[in-house]
Amino acid sequence: AEKKLLQGKKVLVTAGGTVERIDPVRYLTNDSSGKMGYAIAAQAKRMGADVVLVSGKTTERVPDGVEFVTVESALDMYEAVLSRFEQTDIVIKAAAVADYRPAEQAPQKLKKNNDELTITFVKNPDILQTLGQKKHGQFLVGFAAETERVEEYAMGKLRKKNCDLVVANDVSADGAGFGTDTNIVRIYDAQGLALQLPIMSKTDVATRILTLVASRLGSNKGA
Ligand code: PMT
Repeated sequence: AEKKLLQGKKVLVTAGGTVERIDPVRYLTNDSSGKMGYAIAAQAKRMGADVVLVSGKTTERVPDGVEFVTVESALDMYEAVLSRFEQTDIVIKAAAVADYRPAEQAPQKLKKNNDELTITFVKNPDILQTLGQKKHGQFLVGFAAETERVEEYAMGKLRKKNCDLVVANDVSADGAGFGTDTNIVRIYDAQGLALQLPIMSKTDVATRILTLVASRLGSNKGA
């Protein structure tokens, strides 16, 4: 039988891409399939955790036995995550959250009256950074989707967002990042590179992340 490394732990995972509406039938999103986050939710459940999965747009099947919360926009995800943060031990943010949203959402379908259309975007709140400011003992795992200078940017996010670990994927590498069944990740902590993994299934990546988290739990209490 599998050892239940996360027995009794409350784990919140975000997955998928957010949808930022322009009008009732049009929106902006990104290439996240949800596979990475759904794999983490499923593995956390198998490892004994109570799991909440907060999900944006995806075509993945909801893993058995997890509490499932669907959201549309980054603002919806912000609310869903923040309202559950107090009761959570571990947060893993695999979702691809839109950094900006249209300043206004047209109540009716936009008409093609002009040759040009300008949409103004405003910044979304950074969910992970907000959690980093509020955390009291929770273990925070961020993701970093980078195309260059992976270590520098991942460490920058770890510090800025006060994360315990950052899972960096070079999303320009073959077999890594958005939409694939595999991923290639490097995991950083405050000291630098903690774990470098070769290409493997997102399920195996999830197991490795969660095993590392379990081994680190407790050492950050009171931090
Ligand atoms: O879903 P898949 O197709 O399986 O693809 C997996 C993935 C590539 C989406 C995943 O592995 C991944 O890298 N997720 C994070 C994508 C991302 O948006 O990274 P980022 O570097 O822009 O953001 C850094 C961290 O801050 C992320 O944990 C993100 O969830 C969080 N964030 C970002 C913006 C924001 N407004 N709020 C946030 O919480």
